Amino acid sequence: MRAITTIPLLFLTLTSGGVMAQETDTSAGKELVTNNCTECHGTEVYTRAERRVKTRAGLSKQVQRCEQTLGLTWFEEDVENAAEFLNKSYYHFGK
Ligand code: HEC
Repeated sequence: MRAITTIPLLFLTLTSGGVMAQETDTSAGKELVTNNCTECHGTEVYTRAERRVKTRAGLSKQVQRCEQTLGLTWFEEDVENAAEFLNKSYYHFGK
């Protein structure tokens, strides 16, 4: 009986931790980008004059597109952390 009640509790703890992490974590985002995103392009694509991404929402989309091209399976939270890191560091879109 005890083992059965522990499982939903553990699940609750994990999911509520995820909800609490709704605030974007740009240092986690930086780590994700640094570790995964430097194979095809460096930071120059984020700052070039004719860059393609024009909006904050578009930035999240592009991050997801590249992440999926790579075959990674990031959670939405990871995509947001990476996008917000790029926004803070390079794009500077308003919310
Ligand atoms: C498989 C190669 C590849 C990898 C790895 C890759 N990208 Fe890209 N990325 C591209 C290509 C191609 C473009 C489009 C470049 C162009 O239009 O000249 C691009 C463009 C972008 C842009 C838009 C730049 C602009 O013009 O504003 C962003 C943002 C971006 N990538 C983020 C990422 C992130 C975050 C990762 C890691 C998850 C990543 N990329 C990994 C291929 C890649």
